[in-house]
Amino acid sequence: MEPRVGRKVLRFDAVESTNDTAKELLGGEADEGTVIVADRQVAGRGRHGKAWFSPPGGLYCSVVLRPDDTNVPMLNLISGMPVVKALRHWAVLATLKWPNDVVFRNRKIGGVLCEGVYRQDMFWVVAGIGVNTNTPLDRLPAEVRTTATSLKAEADVEVSNEEFLEYMLREFDKVYRASQSSARSVLARDYMALCSTIRQRVAVETAQGTVRGTAIEVTSRGALVLLDDEGRRTEVVEGTVTLA
Ligand code: BTN
Repeated sequence: MEPRVGRKVLRFDAVESTNDTAKELLGGEADEGTVIVADRQVAGRGRHGKAWFSPPGGLYCSVVLRPDDTNVPMLNLISGMPVVKALRHWAVLATLKWPNDVVFRNRKIGGVLCEGVYRQDMFWVVAGIGVNTNTPLDRLPAEVRTTATSLKAEADVEVSNEEFLEYMLREFDKVYRASQSSARSVLARDYMALCSTIRQRVAVETAQGTVRGTAIEVTSRGALVLLDDEGRRTEVVEGTVTLA
């Protein structure tokens, strides 16, 4: 069967944000499985309205999807898995920090911004992925530099973005197909196998306040389950995790 993800790759030198370019091209040049990739972004966006600094050297791409259902939280989670798998292929034992930060030795090496879009009654998801492949870390702002790392710095090899993207998209296709056919509990289990937040004592900053406890699992709807010292169980659907 032809792979759906990556069957068409549209390349740009510079864009504001590959997610925005993908949204502009939705349903026209960009159909399900199309990938938008740029050498740099001038207005790259991260989660929670943060900027994603995008100098040449890093990998910036967005995958256009038309999922069978609207379970964006789970898709949001599993979109980080191909990044981890590709980094591991090049010997960087990265993990996922819930929901989809890609980290290595507590430093961020990649991230995912999934956005849902309705167009004429059709539901699309644009999964934007940024990976510090060959990002010159000294070109990042000081506050990011101290908490970031790159494939090049960790593996001491220069993998071309082309090669990394090709591997990552093959993995993305596998996980996306699984998300459309397998039980969500299976996906949650596969996700947890790559997620280093599980079994850690954490504080999760949510819009409703900070929740503390030990992360014990991720539900089939993508929520992180915390158990506090009194044995109370809380499910968090959105938030930023720090180690407690
Ligand atoms: C995060 O960790 O905060 C998510 C970062 C997502 C960055 C990628 S780079 C490609 C795509 N285009 C964007 O503007 N953002 C995503």
